[in-house]
Amino acid sequence: MTTQKRNSKKLVDFSDKELIEVAKEIQTGWPVFFYEQNFTQREYVDLMYRFGNPETPSLYMNPKDNPEIFIVSGKRYEDGSKVGMFGETELGWHSNGNSRKDIKKILVGLYCNKECEDTTLSMVNTAAVWKDFSQEDKDYYNNITCYFRYENNTMMAIEEGDPELEIMDGHSGQIRELVGKHPHTNEEYIYFSYHFIRKVWYKPPSGKRQVVDREEFVDKLYKKIMRSRYMDHHIFKVGDLILMDQFASLHRRTAINDLDRELWRIANDYNNIMPLPEFYVGAAYDESRTYGAY
Ligand SMILES: [Fe+2]
Repeated sequence: MTTQKRNSKKLVDFSDKELIEVAKEIQTGWPVFFYEQNFTQREYVDLMYRFGNPETPSLYMNPKDNPEIFIVSGKRYEDGSKVGMFGETELGWHSNGNSRKDIKKILVGLYCNKECEDTTLSMVNTAAVWKDFSQEDKDYYNNITCYFRYENNTMMAIEEGDPELEIMDGHSGQIRELVGKHPHTNEEYIYFSYHFIRKVWYKPPSGKRQVVDREEFVDKLYKKIMRSRYMDHHIFKVGDLILMDQFASLHRRTAINDLDRELWRIANDYNNIMPLPEFYVGAAYDESRTYGAY
């Protein structure tokens, strides 16, 4: 059961104490919804800084005045170049940073500046899924290691020559345990951004690590995770804000019909409102090593 709230109170008016409660709720893996927020870009950026520090790569989709914002849109300029990221096509299940070797921006905000009523965002709470797993499943999946890296035409399809492809291919990927502990809650979650999973290993309680058939592994786990009881679905209206935790949940979206649809995405950490020592989950994957043999 979700704790989804119908909250139209202005988040910018929340005290720090109230924002901590919001952060805790996001970290459970359920998306937290706010409506009728009517942010300016600056208000939204300032709000997210109260939680933590947003990433500001200053790429083509980051407005010059507010580089913390990523414009998510299928819109194009007159010369054909893209205004935002993620285009107009369907996006498969993912969370922010799946292809990076070091994921720190685990709070994502999506704010709707221009809606498209044909597009649905779906979210699944992978921390809640893990809680309900049998001990037998937990014992097995706790001994799984995966190699994650973006591969074009899986989670999304980007055309050759598109600057977004260069960004995605530029991430080196990571090798990490399938099950992690959330750095703020210490609760376990299952990291199932399967489009990015390229290799899978199982380490039996005694014996050597062995390679697992990737397709079989994903199909089996998909059925356990993608169940309605763990999901929320949302069609954005202007002024809606959704806050999601990137370790405790995954999300996807259907294709866009109205190319003017525009979301403002900010990828954050929680470290201003919940200071935390450095945490590090994954490691860089080394192509030259034979991981199956150790
Ligand atoms: Fe996303």
